[in-house]
Amino acid sequence: MTLQEPKLQISDLISQMTLEEKAALCTGASPWRTVGIERLGLEPIVLSDGPHGLRRASEIDSMMVESLPATCFPVAATLSSSWDVELAGKLGQAIAEEAIDIGVDIVLGPGMNIKRSPLCGRNFEYFSEDPLLAGKMAAGLIEGMQSKGVGACVKHFAVNNQETRRFTVDAVVDERTLHEIYLAGFELAIRSSKPWTVMCSYNSVNGTFAAENHYLLTEVLRDQWGFEGFVMSDWGAVHDRPEGVKAGLDLEMPGPSPDRTQAVIDAVNSGDLDMATLDTVVERLLKVILHAQETPKGGGVIDVEGHHALARSIAADCMVMLKNEDGVLPLEGNERIAVIGQAARMPVFQGGGSSHINTTKVDNALEFLRQRSEVQYAIGDASVELNQEAIDEAVVLANNADVALLFIALPESVESEGYDRPNLYLTPQQVALIHAVAAANPRVVVILNNGSAIDMHSWINDVDAIIEAWLPGQAGAGAVVDILFGDVNPSGKLGETFPIKLSDTPCHLNFPGEKDTVHYGEGIYVGYRGYDAMERDVLFPFGFGLSYTQFEYSNLSVSATNFKLGQPLTVTLDVTNVGYVAGKEIVQLYVSDVESRLPRPIKELKAFAKVALEPGETKQITLTLDDRAFMFYDPDYGQWLAEAGAFDLLVGASSADIRLTAQVNLTEGSAVASLLHVYSTLKDWMSDPKGAEIVKPMIDNFASQAMGDAEALGVDSMLVFFQDLPLTQVLRFTGAGGSESPDKIVQALVDKVHA
Ligand code: BGC
Repeated sequence: MTLQEPKLQISDLISQMTLEEKAALCTGASPWRTVGIERLGLEPIVLSDGPHGLRRASEIDSMMVESLPATCFPVAATLSSSWDVELAGKLGQAIAEEAIDIGVDIVLGPGMNIKRSPLCGRNFEYFSEDPLLAGKMAAGLIEGMQSKGVGACVKHFAVNNQETRRFTVDAVVDERTLHEIYLAGFELAIRSSKPWTVMCSYNSVNGTFAAENHYLLTEVLRDQWGFEGFVMSDWGAVHDRPEGVKAGLDLEMPGPSPDRTQAVIDAVNSGDLDMATLDTVVERLLKVILHAQETPKGGGVIDVEGHHALARSIAADCMVMLKNEDGVLPLEGNERIAVIGQAARMPVFQGGGSSHINTTKVDNALEFLRQRSEVQYAIGDASVELNQEAIDEAVVLANNADVALLFIALPESVESEGYDRPNLYLTPQQVALIHAVAAANPRVVVILNNGSAIDMHSWINDVDAIIEAWLPGQAGAGAVVDILFGDVNPSGKLGETFPIKLSDTPCHLNFPGEKDTVHYGEGIYVGYRGYDAMERDVLFPFGFGLSYTQFEYSNLSVSATNFKLGQPLTVTLDVTNVGYVAGKEIVQLYVSDVESRLPRPIKELKAFAKVALEPGETKQITLTLDDRAFMFYDPDYGQWLAEAGAFDLLVGASSADIRLTAQVNLTEGSAVASLLHVYSTLKDWMSDPKGAEIVKPMIDNFASQAMGDAEALGVDSMLVFFQDLPLTQVLRFTGAGGSESPDKIVQALVDKVHA
């Protein structure tokens, strides 16, 4: 849904508003409401967290109050493992239905920051280490939500990838990395699904706080991407309200903040802030507020059972089977089962902080398992410190069972907004418990609840199967049981790499920075882009996940081998379910630039699809690659561009399991003006299409006359030796310019190139 513009009404309203009313509208009336203006008939709208269910305050004007019951759906880390954009849409629709029922106009989500480090305390609220996966999943959720007339709020814009010192830290990130990694997902979601609102982050980016960052909020968001909604601050992110208004921050939250309103009034009166700028902000706010009010809210009753069932089926599509040796899963149903672990009875299904939901109901796995099999239960890991008695009790059960199910959850307090995790470890008790149970029973299945990667190196070889159930929402326990018994075939794949150990992560030496500065020193090499480049082994690669069946890939074909920009490439292939049960496969298409002027990741995800297949069934998958799939962000030009040449298309079942490949050739790169200048190097000249045309004959001429050292060394080696010298110096050293002044020659060449 795009924002309709009742222009007349809005301009009419603005013309009737006093300066005080305009300034007041730019800050919330309360923690969860915008300002209403009674005399003009302008009603407030209600904002509520987000992102995976509603946290609608029971008293709308209070900050720290209990929230109304709502369904807790799978968190973003879970949802993204489904790689199913339509499923994200269904989740968005269901949240919107509850929003309508309990009176919420704008939901504060999705959160879509990149998972730079597995330590980020809020990773559970974010989708992926990859901007394409994050952007597509967010877009699906936004579209679903807004199709019902409830606004989404994409957050936290931008470069908010840690909780440590999140209010004060400056993220120092180069322009290329900013656009290719940290903005690309936002760009995709904002361009394609047009969220009504965006929330700026707390941190500053390259020296300017997000809330006052004109580059981010106006130049990028609006001028480049065409965002039409309003930007609100994260709760308490504002430093200088008039500067924020100038930068493009429309709404400060929470309110009320009479001093901030007064500051805007004063800035207009003193001439520091143009009334026209303030009017633009007011116009953007009114556009969304009036649009939101077209969908009546409140008075409804949440569909508790319907949404709980939906949450369960969504969760089932998200679980990732990481290991299944000797087909230990699925269970037959007639086993004597030892169920071990506190999480089997008291599930950990959501993280801490502003996304924490007051659930309508919560399932636990133990209850479902008891309905299906003969079950003995031991709590096992209730304490963090070593408790041998609890371990011994679990071992007795494991000894007398056909299979042991270990429910291992990171303690709820470990993953939260407000702070980062100190390490990737489970508790000492959990690790000892896994070892002991594994020694006691030959069939051990670990079911994990966590919002981001954990360290498994000390125990992974001791267990037979691992289900990564993530934080699956209030109905997740049922989904786990569906997977364990094979009622649902696992089909999730990882949206983030699991490293072997923390120090392997590409950002390790730069996370979370020192005091108030964090250098994004690993640049574009985040997640698999980094592990690939460093040739570092990982525990589980990006895009990995097992199934109870197997899939074969065949018949890759591409719509064109030689192609031009503006002609999207269509990639087709067949996927066959060669196993004995129905299943779903996630097919991933990575693009690799064979040769490029700037260093590029070895491969980057550019398209994906999820397909359901009956045993023996084959389906043709079609994936489309647009221009952006071949581009990189060139900081010299301040834009995305593609270079002519060969690209490998890699079709895989994960980033480390490439099954089919093809090569295509981009015949002409993006048309860009030459950047050559008088100090450009020989290499710069040779890699500039126009420059090469001019310089090549000079070099050939020099080569044909090469004598002495040049002859001995070989002309090609000479050229390599000279490649990083400015052309002027090459002419000087080789005498290739004859008697003319090299400076004059090069200046004339530069003029010719730019003519
Ligand atoms: C969080 C936001 C949240 C807001 C309102 C902030 O602390 O960073 O994600 O939407 O609070 O609860």
